[in-house]
Amino acid sequence: MQIVNTVDSLRKILKPLSKQGKTIGLVPTMGALHAGHGALIKESVKNCDVTVVSVFLNPIQFGKNEDLDKYPKRLEADAKLAESLGADYVFAPSVAEMYPEGDPLTMVRDESLESMYCGAYRPGHFRGVLTVVSKLFLISGCDHAYFGEKDYQQVFLIERMVKDLNFDIQIHRVKIVREESGLALSSRNEYLSEDERKNALSISLGLRDAKDAYAKGERSVSKLRDIVLKSIIAAHGIVQFVEVVNQKDLQKFSGILGAEDKVVILVAAFFGKTRLIDNIELN
Ligand code: PAF
Repeated sequence: MQIVNTVDSLRKILKPLSKQGKTIGLVPTMGALHAGHGALIKESVKNCDVTVVSVFLNPIQFGKNEDLDKYPKRLEADAKLAESLGADYVFAPSVAEMYPEGDPLTMVRDESLESMYCGAYRPGHFRGVLTVVSKLFLISGCDHAYFGEKDYQQVFLIERMVKDLNFDIQIHRVKIVREESGLALSSRNEYLSEDERKNALSISLGLRDAKDAYAKGERSVSKLRDIVLKSIIAAHGIVQFVEVVNQKDLQKFSGILGAEDKVVILVAAFFGKTRLIDNIELN
């Protein structure tokens, strides 16, 4: 496995491989890899001839008061994990390499969805994500790209971008990987104290209870929402949002769910200073 630091050198490696008919899989990450990323890498290795894992802490998707500076960095360990799972290349460019002109003036955005849910609390976040993901698609020339469903809104926006802009890339959604306790794996779990980690289980427990209630016939949006809200609040979490939304267009449901509705509950909550997100599809 090789670590590549520049756009030119990655292109020089990947273009000939593409020309030989090899399929290229891209796993975009910001580093601090865990088993959730591992699942993405394994999927790519299984499906593609060549797997590239990008490790780039993308400054333009972080707000001023967010955790860019304290985000865990450990390229060597990330590269080892990627190698052990069969990745062929780690692409780890510097900020200057990715943004040689400074912050980009040309950006990719989804005006309708970028300011909902996570976007409402993280202005500019999804613009930063869609822009860097587009750059990584263009730099790598990948045929397949892998994203985790924990970032449900993110993967939805990326799928929509690929359709809107005719990227010739197949997007693969990979299921959330959870600890045995139920906590969804996230690089940000490292910030949690022992107590906060215990309390944070209220998110996945609340989501599981809502799913159980749905399976038993509960169709009231407010009741399903309340199950999750109460679970988190009882564990001293500060809820940013709990929303019952349509898997097809991410629009909010209200009232009573219909038989045909495809439903996912999206959650963001703080435990201490750590913001966690999670979700569950009810059907
Ligand atoms: O999900 C992430 O880690 C990031 O948002 C991504 C997709 C790598 C873009 O920086």
